[in-house]
Amino acid sequence: MGYRIMNKDKPRRRVSRPTVVFVASEAVPFAKTGGLADVTGALVTEMAEIGCRTILIIPKYQTIPKELIRPTDLSIEVPVGRSPVTARIWEGRKTGDTSVYLLDIPPFFDRGSLYGEKGLDYPDNLARFAALNRGALELLKKLRIRPHIIHVHDWQTSLIPLYLKSIYRHDPFFERTRSVLTIHNLSYQGRFNPDDMRFTGLPKNYLSPRYFEYFGEIRLLKGGIVSSDWITTVSPTYEEEIQTEEFGCGIDGVIRTRSENLTGILNGIDIKEWNPARDPFISTRYSTENLQGKNRCKRALLKETGLPLDTRRPLICLLSRLVEQKGIIQAIEAMPYLLEAGATWVVLGEGDPAYELEMARLATAYPDRIAVRIGYDNQLAHRIVAGSDYLLMPSLFEPCGLSQIYAMRYGTIPVVRGVGGLVDTVTDLTKDPENGTGFVFHSTTPQALMSAVHRAFSVYRQPKVWTNLRRRIMAQDFSWRQSALEYREIYRDVLARPRSPIHRAPRS
Ligand code: ADP
Ligand code: GLC
Repeated sequence: MGYRIMNKDKPRRRVSRPTVVFVASEAVPFAKTGGLADVTGALVTEMAEIGCRTILIIPKYQTIPKELIRPTDLSIEVPVGRSPVTARIWEGRKTGDTSVYLLDIPPFFDRGSLYGEKGLDYPDNLARFAALNRGALELLKKLRIRPHIIHVHDWQTSLIPLYLKSIYRHDPFFERTRSVLTIHNLSYQGRFNPDDMRFTGLPKNYLSPRYFEYFGEIRLLKGGIVSSDWITTVSPTYEEEIQTEEFGCGIDGVIRTRSENLTGILNGIDIKEWNPARDPFISTRYSTENLQGKNRCKRALLKETGLPLDTRRPLICLLSRLVEQKGIIQAIEAMPYLLEAGATWVVLGEGDPAYELEMARLATAYPDRIAVRIGYDNQLAHRIVAGSDYLLMPSLFEPCGLSQIYAMRYGTIPVVRGVGGLVDTVTDLTKDPENGTGFVFHSTTPQALMSAVHRAFSVYRQPKVWTNLRRRIMAQDFSWRQSALEYREIYRDVLARPRSPIHRAPRS
């Protein structure tokens, strides 16, 4: 016993090329509903570039383009509650040096969407994602890939850290494995009825506030928070915010108990995919040296969306999931008033049916000034970012936000609410005319939004300020490199420590 304790305290050898497995519910180019997919897809590729051996595991959804995947001869049995399901293994097209594996469990993943349809979650989501979590661990064993790090993302893969410290705790295969959980959005916690407990495969005593129970219900993310070896979130400001009652979504107390093992690392973007000088989806390519093309993109966007071809008016876009988080109510209230200030609007989004309806109504009421596309369209998203003068992001909270970063890369001025990652990525031009990169407002009222847009429009007719601002924001470094190095430091840090026990959560 004494020997064991001494051994545990001994510093471990530094691992120079860690094997890192990302398990995620979505990743570009395979499946995407939001920024989570952009991040998992691009970050895993970057981790390979800086010397990690990387593997990505995702579900094989019906919606994944066939040309990106192919079946293998391999299959595994995955325990989901009492009855095992069979998962056939597919391989995905390699992204850089990353090997991609997909779990094909038709009753769970052969559906029209990833998490639900018509605004309703699939009722068996716990069973579906428990199968992904358990299946990923079983697949690694089958492939004899012994990971140093399993990096999981959001509630959908939060059972893995808990499995590693319960069901697989004494499995020598995972002896050296440490887990890192990235919280992309604390407001989605994977909330389920306690009856669903049977699908986790864990004994009943895990349905306790110490693990993932929260006032009688299951919250999978909480299980990940108490059991992962390190937690990251997607911006330094959001790291602070989630430890407060205002942004803590009920579990700020649990998060505070892990503040020693919590790091905010700002997201990067895939600067190859989002590059106005090479973008295959936009009508004219452009760069900081030659901004002419941006005006042509504006003209093309007006044409494509059926708006009058008047490029003199400022064109402002909203490109976002249409959900409460994104401040859509405030935007809907402000949009008609901002027409008086000269605005023309292009909106692309989908989400809450009530917001979709309101947006469609605005487009019908002001057909010459407001164009609305309801739906999901990546190529149009590129053309909107390229063709707009401004991008509005009035989020109530925003863990990081990628659209404002894409906008800046394309010389489109962000007008954002000062929360979360928006604080860390946009500097207000009025406050800092030398280094400002956009316009930031604070209150959640439509008035605050409107006055920020008015401020933003005031630079529109100052050609020198305008062009300088565009060049400045486009020249920033948004690549993943720096953030990937920070993740690697965390991997090294957790690998150097002995395996920690499950953290004791307070009943917050
Ligand atoms: P979130 O992940 O909360 O939705 P982010 O700003 O991090 O917010 O990422 C949103 C991503 O989804 C961006 O890549 C954005 O371009 C994209 N996106 C959002 N809505 C649509 C849509 N309707 N069509 C195409 N892309 C969209
Ligand atoms: C979430 C957040 C968003 C973040 C994205 C990627 O969807 O809402 O702010 O940029 O994850 O981390």
